[in-house]
Amino acid sequence: MINKHLSIFLVKAVFLSSFSIGKCDQPCSARDVGIEGRSIVCVCNAAYCDTITRDEPAWNTYVAYTSTRDGKRFEKSTGPIRFLTNAKARNYGRSEKTQTRFANEASYRINSNTRYQKVEGFGGSVTDAASINWRKLSDSTQRHFINSYFGKEGIEYNMIRVPIGGADFSTHPYTYNESPWNDKTLSNYSLSAEDYFYKLPMIKQAQEVSTDEIKVTASTWSPPVWMKTNQAITGFAQLKPEFYQTYADYHLRFIEEYDKAEVKIWAITTTNEPINGIVPFVDFNSLGWLPSDLGRWVARNLGPTIRNSRFNDTLILAVDDQRYLVDIYLGGMALGDPKSLDYIDGIALHYYGNFIPAGILSNIQSRYPGKILLSTEACEGPMPWDIMQVKIGSWERAQRYTRHIIDDLNNFVVGWIDWNLCLDENGGPNWAHNYVDAPILVYGDRDEFIKQPIFYAMGHFSKFIPRGSQRVEVMRTSLGHVHNAAFITPQGNIVMVLQNLNQHEVQVNVALSLLRSAQITMEPESIKTIEFNV
Ligand SMILES: *[C@@H]1O[C@H](CO)[C@@H](O)[C@H](O)[C@H]1NC(C)=O
Ligand SMILES: *[C@@H]1O[C@H](CO)[C@@H](O)[C@H](O)[C@H]1NC(C)=O
Repeated sequence: MINKHLSIFLVKAVFLSSFSIGKCDQPCSARDVGIEGRSIVCVCNAAYCDTITRDEPAWNTYVAYTSTRDGKRFEKSTGPIRFLTNAKARNYGRSEKTQTRFANEASYRINSNTRYQKVEGFGGSVTDAASINWRKLSDSTQRHFINSYFGKEGIEYNMIRVPIGGADFSTHPYTYNESPWNDKTLSNYSLSAEDYFYKLPMIKQAQEVSTDEIKVTASTWSPPVWMKTNQAITGFAQLKPEFYQTYADYHLRFIEEYDKAEVKIWAITTTNEPINGIVPFVDFNSLGWLPSDLGRWVARNLGPTIRNSRFNDTLILAVDDQRYLVDIYLGGMALGDPKSLDYIDGIALHYYGNFIPAGILSNIQSRYPGKILLSTEACEGPMPWDIMQVKIGSWERAQRYTRHIIDDLNNFVVGWIDWNLCLDENGGPNWAHNYVDAPILVYGDRDEFIKQPIFYAMGHFSKFIPRGSQRVEVMRTSLGHVHNAAFITPQGNIVMVLQNLNQHEVQVNVALSLLRSAQITMEPESIKTIEFNV
């Protein structure tokens, strides 16, 4: 017996120690993109792909993961949580040399007794474009791709968004019931080849390797054109009132069809970017909603249809558009039919209006309590003034993602879903030529994909803030400051994400209780996730 126990102990010890020094991780296979000012990308193919495992911090220690413009990607380090001497604790946050400390030092106290929203998770979108690019890779490279995003040795995404029918990130515009015309009962509703050969296989492979349930959110860009006032896939158009119920059924049918394929739809949104069919200059799949019409449709058609169905637990998320439109839409919906808000479980937010500060989200949260805030779409490079759609190896884009995710989380957002999981080197395919950047670019011809800095920015959150984590209060106790957000995980560890935008090092002191703190060095232009076991 003793021998047996001893050998189990030894096996465990070897296993754990190899974990703690990170032997299991495959480092980034870095490629210099050869453009001044850009960071590196990490190359994956059939034979190789970098991995990252989460190390369990020992009691009174932390494990930190660092990515930098200089080329670190999830570099691991560990450190102690120290007891402060009484004098130090009393003087905590004060300084004799405030001038120099202002720029180079920052200190915080984490108050884990003050807790805010619970996290649902992080993820990306399985568009036609993403899944078609992924399918260009060999089986083995496809597996590396899926593991990179969803696996235990990847960044452990647990959220997916999927378009209902086509979006601009498709090779052609389409919907699920294009003919016969005026088919009120949707007698010819059928999923597309894109669903069967690309999107569903990608989602199912993700589910197979995922460490957690993957929650899928689905959104319609455009219904069949015969439901629309302009009878076209894009342009200025609203839903014809005679098809209000049909459009609600169109959503339920999608949930049913995906259920048959064993993919549960966790949430639907009330139509992607409803402003697009109201403003005249949009050139991709859209449907416009005036806020009051949307309220009537949700209260009288969509809401009852979903709640009276077998899929009555599907969340309904309203708006699915820029943050500055939330008030206009929710207010207008309530005017259209006050019952509409009773059917709404949450508010879906897009990234492209983030020039309005994230504080607006806290304000919305306090006025619509009980409705979750979920970020459902983000990408870099989509704006008319973006000179480059794909900016390979851009560290600025990773920094911008990080800053906005931190801001969103600090203002009650419960989860963050990125746009296309991957695109080709031109940021497509996109039938409307609306090319953008993505965290992974796929080179089908050489069976290779590259992970851009944005991939790691996402991972700094998705991998280390598991579902059910709760945001906790962070009090700043210094003049100096770095961006941050902190969470308590379901297992009781504190996870903090820190971002240093400066081109110089910053020393960060994190007090975890009155008497215990950790000293963290933030490298220039770095992102760091730290898991503390206190
Ligand atoms: C049903 O849809 C398919 C395409 O999915 C189309 O080829 C066929 O013509 C449609 N049937 C009718 C009766 O419109
Ligand atoms: C939801 O539907 C299930 C059957 O699928 C039923 O058992 C349950 O009572 C329904 N819940 C509500 C709140 O209607």
